[in-house]
Amino acid sequence: MLTVFGSIIVDTIFSVPTLPRPGETVLADALFVGPGGKGANQAVAAAKIGAEVAMVGSVGSDAMAQISIQAFEGAGVGVSGVQAVAGPTGSAAVMVDAGGANAICVAPAANRQTVAMQMTDAVWDRTTTLLMQMEVPFGEIEAAIAEARRRGVRSILNLAPAAPLGLEALKALDILIVNEVELAMLASQLRLNGDSHEAIARAAASVLGITLVVTLGETGALCVSGDKVLTAPALAIDPVDTTGAGDAFCGVFAAALDVDLCLEDALARGCIAGSLACLKTGAQECLPTADALRKYL
Ligand code: RIB
Repeated sequence: MLTVFGSIIVDTIFSVPTLPRPGETVLADALFVGPGGKGANQAVAAAKIGAEVAMVGSVGSDAMAQISIQAFEGAGVGVSGVQAVAGPTGSAAVMVDAGGANAICVAPAANRQTVAMQMTDAVWDRTTTLLMQMEVPFGEIEAAIAEARRRGVRSILNLAPAAPLGLEALKALDILIVNEVELAMLASQLRLNGDSHEAIARAAASVLGITLVVTLGETGALCVSGDKVLTAPALAIDPVDTTGAGDAFCGVFAAALDVDLCLEDALARGCIAGSLACLKTGAQECLPTADALRKYL
């Protein structure tokens, strides 16, 4: 079973002609409220392709929580590890421009109360892959990584949004997934140089002793694992909204590994899912099913 330990957020998405610059006000053409949060998006992405998924995280005690819970239930994500805490559910303001590019501001709210102890023995016993992101307290992510290592559970961290995590925790992972911005931050944390994404990824994977995946937007993704470098292309699409594309990649990639597909197949599926996730407004609105994925393989 794939367990996602991470954030649950409700997105308010503003479709704008151009992203506002500092000091500028822009008028939105449309407004959409829907389920989001990197953890929740990844859990739903994995469940939609048929994976058995459990979510561990926090919602608030407000009406917004139901938006997220209903999305989990609709996709078949297990919610017994989701706690309801006093106060508001996490919330994000997402601005998406005419080309599908976005700018996001997150208020974590309830997510700040998520703790690794929510992963009970009953959850750990069924977990074969643990997938995390960086929208819950960092100390709790480090605790979850250490416990996964102790229990022999495969651990995957999506280092988004970019923030430095302790070196010991990074080295205890099996797989780290970064985009170009997060790769640059990781290179600076590890004091690495390189003249290409691949060179930096090779150096980082070697220093950490783990598999490193770099998502490259419309170019696809690359993966460094030991001596091997794998690549997979993205689909040629006209993006409507890139929000959640990275999450679709991570959820589907982790779900594929969890059913013992090889890295190359997981990378290909992740890239297809990331592309298809850009075709409608909303982070969870057009996540592909297994059948939809198959059409592009
Ligand atoms: O990755 C996209 C997600 O980032 C959005 O759904 C938003 O909630 C933020 O967590």
